[in-house]
Amino acid sequence: ELGDYQHYMQKEIFEQPQALAATLEMISGAQTFTPNLFGVAAPELLAGVQSVLILACGTSYHSGLVARYWIEQLAGVPCTVEIASEYRYRVSVPNPDQLVVAISQSGETADTLASVRHAKAQGMQRTLAICNVPESAIVRECALRFLTRAGPEIGVASTKAFTTQLAALFLLAATLAKQVGRLTPAVEAQHLNALRHLPVAVQKVLAGEADIKAWAAHFANKHHALFLGRGQHYPIALEGALKLKEISYIHAEGYPAGELKHGPLALVDKDMPVISIAPNDALLEKLKSNLKEVAARGGELYVFADADSAVEEEPGVHVLRLPEHYGLLSPVLHVVPLQLLSYHVALVKGTDVDKPRNLAKSVTVE
Ligand code: F6R
Repeated sequence: ELGDYQHYMQKEIFEQPQALAATLEMISGAQTFTPNLFGVAAPELLAGVQSVLILACGTSYHSGLVARYWIEQLAGVPCTVEIASEYRYRVSVPNPDQLVVAISQSGETADTLASVRHAKAQGMQRTLAICNVPESAIVRECALRFLTRAGPEIGVASTKAFTTQLAALFLLAATLAKQVGRLTPAVEAQHLNALRHLPVAVQKVLAGEADIKAWAAHFANKHHALFLGRGQHYPIALEGALKLKEISYIHAEGYPAGELKHGPLALVDKDMPVISIAPNDALLEKLKSNLKEVAARGGELYVFADADSAVEEEPGVHVLRLPEHYGLLSPVLHVVPLQLLSYHVALVKGTDVDKPRNLAKSVTVE
């Protein structure tokens, strides 16, 4: 089953181009984003949606955090993202016009399932499941569904499920944008093209594995790492940190770079590598000034930039470049080197990559 691969995680990272192509197959010939992507009842249930509430756990929660940037920017619809185990037990304000989106690879996560039931019990009937397993409990619980087609994900650390969730969530954001008349035909065509080209773009990122592997050696003897991102790449920093802690047992935190001064800068020294996501977007200059603060304290910087990001190698600043800048969909590309980094750090450390200690693939108990 593993073929030429050593681990499921490695296989699943490299399957991402196919997983994305399969997930996006339904738009391969499409001229437009239509609600029908989300099920037969979608035209009715998505119409008039006033806001979106995303519920999920772990890596799926991180895909929801990225989606918030897309939904608010593209559709102008307010979006909140909440960890399912928090939402289900707190007193919140129900809103029947809100679309509830449950994101789950397995479709069986107990807290996510219970959070959907909690929303429904409060009168919120517009529910959408974004899941990788057809006929799973969460899919059955929701009125609408979008099935990611990542194929079985066996490694405990979620990889291809995450990037296919992002693809599904981008479709949702674009569909909501279309519905409220915020997509011009030209912009709509651009988004469709960018999605169609995504598998090839991810393939090109995967081709950079050797450089990332070379970096991994620097991390294996470290006890802490800090991941920084801004804007829609802040959740990618959180995801990079989660991957590293899960499979290599290195304590890692993800932070929005603008928060450095508000606390975490106190931790920075030569023993704590700082990994930064530096796409060539509007926040790059802000990010660079954050990185200077790290360098000034002797922190070793590992920067994932784009081909055209204005960041330079210098002593204490290592830079790897992704082949192209990918605009709004850039988080889908930038998570890939972080997956590879944690994989290679785990290999150097000799941890059990596919079955990290204390963790289960599907968390069906609270
Ligand atoms: C992290 C990971 C977990 C899951 C979480 C939710 O790599 O795999 O954080 O993302 O347990 O699982 P699903 O998506 O199945 O609801």
